[in-house]
Amino acid sequence: MAETQKPEKRPKGKDPAKQAEWLADALRWHNHLYYSKAEPEITDAEYDALMRELEALEAEHPELQSPDSPTVQVGAGLRTDLAKVEHRVPMLSIENAMNEEEARAWFKRLAEDAGDVELICEPKYDGLSCELVYEDGRLSVASTRGDGKVGEDVTPNVKTIKTVPLKLKGKFPKRLEVRGEVYIEKKAFAELNERLEQEGAKTYVNPRNTASGSLRQIDYRKSAARPLSAVWYQVANPEDAGLNSQSESIRALQRWGFLTSADLLKGSPLQVKTLKGVEAVIGLFDVFKAQRHALPFEIDGMVVKVDDHAAQLELGARSKSPRYLLAMKFAPEERETVCEQIEVQVGRTGAITPVAVLVPVKVGGVTVTHASLHNADEIERLGIRPGDTVMVHRAGDVIPKVLRVVKSAGAKPFKFPTHCPRCDSELVKLGEEVVIRCPNHLGCPAQVMGAIVHFSSRTAMNIEGLAEKNVEQLLEAGLIHDPPSLYELPGKRDEMLQLERWGEKKIDNLIEEIEKSRTPILAKFIYALGIRNVGETVAGLIANEVGSIDGLLNATDEQLNEIEGVGPIIAESVIKFLHDEHNRGLIERLRGEVHPKEVKKLVAGEGKFSGMTFVFTGSLTRFTRDEAEVMVRDRGGKASGSVSKKTSYVVAGENAGSKLKKANDLGVKVITEDDFLAML
Ligand code: IVH
Repeated sequence: MAETQKPEKRPKGKDPAKQAEWLADALRWHNHLYYSKAEPEITDAEYDALMRELEALEAEHPELQSPDSPTVQVGAGLRTDLAKVEHRVPMLSIENAMNEEEARAWFKRLAEDAGDVELICEPKYDGLSCELVYEDGRLSVASTRGDGKVGEDVTPNVKTIKTVPLKLKGKFPKRLEVRGEVYIEKKAFAELNERLEQEGAKTYVNPRNTASGSLRQIDYRKSAARPLSAVWYQVANPEDAGLNSQSESIRALQRWGFLTSADLLKGSPLQVKTLKGVEAVIGLFDVFKAQRHALPFEIDGMVVKVDDHAAQLELGARSKSPRYLLAMKFAPEERETVCEQIEVQVGRTGAITPVAVLVPVKVGGVTVTHASLHNADEIERLGIRPGDTVMVHRAGDVIPKVLRVVKSAGAKPFKFPTHCPRCDSELVKLGEEVVIRCPNHLGCPAQVMGAIVHFSSRTAMNIEGLAEKNVEQLLEAGLIHDPPSLYELPGKRDEMLQLERWGEKKIDNLIEEIEKSRTPILAKFIYALGIRNVGETVAGLIANEVGSIDGLLNATDEQLNEIEGVGPIIAESVIKFLHDEHNRGLIERLRGEVHPKEVKKLVAGEGKFSGMTFVFTGSLTRFTRDEAEVMVRDRGGKASGSVSKKTSYVVAGENAGSKLKKANDLGVKVITEDDFLAML
């Protein structure tokens, strides 16, 4: 598991090792924001530029590429609580072209390698990819892409999507692997949000994240309640089905009973048919651009595929993407609007964020009214002042962002406040942090509210019905004052009935939700505490290590540091949180109310490797690092990401770097992959 901490400032100078390390860290961080938090901070184009820079550096200095480099690994982190499914054929990604020039370069290479081949173009669906495996014509397993090699088992959830055939029609191979995209139609998304708003629940940000969250529910009934759709675009084992091209695959998929791009585009000016040559493709891309908003589902580009399977195989693949595919992405839409004023908001950790209040403007089909300006440095960089005319877009097509000022209104520069706009405490700046904070964690109403909203959010304790407006009302009425006090609400029915817009039904629903939240999995409980730097993924890692609330309360800095994926900054903030008297009090009160299921530790403590710690470094040839680590854990040992005096063995593969050096410096025993195999 890759470390996911915000990278420091980019190092100056040209040292390739330092630059590569920084780029890899930055890409991991942005992967984490995109996949685990669904809150990207940079655009696809910016991400792509970082990725290319790292690829170029690694091409020039192959010794810098580690097996877990973001240039090698594909995609997302996995949820710890869904079963894992290995993909027989890895699910790769697609090379992107962000503009016409890049597309032309791709076509030039293609023409050199494969000649003037037939191509087929389809929408690039903005959902999440999914694999279906059919055995003897029956749906046996459905899984998400995960990291490309191993995905998550979402079979019961996928079965609730009405258009997914449970049984194939006609003649089919014994085993069939089909891939496609699960998504939510624009209209269904708008209706869902409208309903949530009426219920006073928090609304969703965009269809893609909603589809992802909905499909990856542990309780399939929750998936069933979401308006999921799916389209199927690929047969992963075409040879078993006697298929010779992508167009044949599409027709076969239709015969078996799947919805394909050909079905979805019926009646639109777009059609799925083969064509040849770069000009024809670019012409079609323009039609896709023009039709984009008229389609009932979101697309973020067009996928170009070499039609013929033999030619596809001939072309082969790069480490992460096959050469026969290109995704031509739409440029993010930019719009002009006016920044009416600059407000500051107080987050749940006290962070003060300046926000541009905008004259509402539609960007990429969504109305934008606010855009974060992040911090004082960003305000200065942009030179933004109230009244200015600005250009905005949606970063990663999601988060609104001010790109630049196009016309100044000549107002006075914005002055950053010295006191909290909510509780008037004097603001502070801690150490090296760029962020300015309100230090009044217990008394500042914005922070108290933020803590409660976070605690009950969907990805934490999942108490539906506690969106900001409702929490604010309950706080104002003095019915709650911190997260544990939520559990007193079932005894305060009469008081709640006095509140405006609170009827019997709404109260019943909320109480039921509160009762349901009493037995969370430990990871969610830890995440719900709102410890700084502890996101969902990290909370899962910590839960696996500590096993219970007691384990958490007794966790040591050393123990946390040993967890793969938890670095010193995270460990320190957990320890700081746990040592705070107030926080311990909160946890004590919570444990009277909620009873997280204990996690059985992965480490059995018994077995061949009991008491030993292994570190793997360099590229292994017989198994992946993940597999090797599982073998260690299965035998009662520990696998760690960093070498210390306590490390029993460092297993060094090819091109081992700094960890090997550290092992030698510390006198830790270094063995080869073969030695390790012999030990097994
Ligand atoms: S073909 C190697 N066709 O885009 C993957 N993928 O950015 C071959 N995607 O993981 C898949 N629309 O989830 C294909 N019409 C389409 C697609 C499509 C969206 C997704 C797919 C892939 C991702 C890469």
